[in-house]
Amino acid sequence: MEIQTTTALPFDAAHLSSDYRELAQWAHGLLMGQTHRVSNAANLSALIFEHLPDLNWVGFYFLDDDPMGGGAPVLMVGPFQGKPACVRIEIGQGVCGQAVASRTTQRVADVHAFPGHIACDPASRSELVVPLISAGAVIGVLDIDSPLPERFSEVDQAGIEYLAKLYLHSLG
Ligand code: SME
Repeated sequence: MEIQTTTALPFDAAHLSSDYRELAQWAHGLLMGQTHRVSNAANLSALIFEHLPDLNWVGFYFLDDDPMGGGAPVLMVGPFQGKPACVRIEIGQGVCGQAVASRTTQRVADVHAFPGHIACDPASRSELVVPLISAGAVIGVLDIDSPLPERFSEVDQAGIEYLAKLYLHSLG
């Protein structure tokens, strides 16, 4: 599929590394003009998985009604690349649930040292989870796992947070 990459990015990208600026340009070209939450999550997962080295899982969890009938909303797995994953995560549980509860990015150098980490794929050693906040409300998370410890730097965090922002922007 051909991706349009010439349109200017909608947010200042001067703080990103040149690699992430390029990836952001691809992501913007891919998502621009598309507004469907699931479709854009699917394509962005595929783009990240294809372009960043040393990843074993990239995907989205969306906040939704609890299918188990609990009163509180839970994170339900959305589009992703990688091995089959945990379907349902409660707020506050694991790295993803902590990202929602704290509304801040969780950059975990060693998942084995993270209390409550949920091991969907035992190969995962480090993880980056960005909460998706739209109009003040958390709607889900973008979750990236690596089989390497300390895979994610501050540069990666800034880059992935920017991609998450582009995703939210695409939904209109
Ligand atoms: N490790 C995550 C669960 C999701 S999987 O990594 C795909 C967590 O602790 O929340």
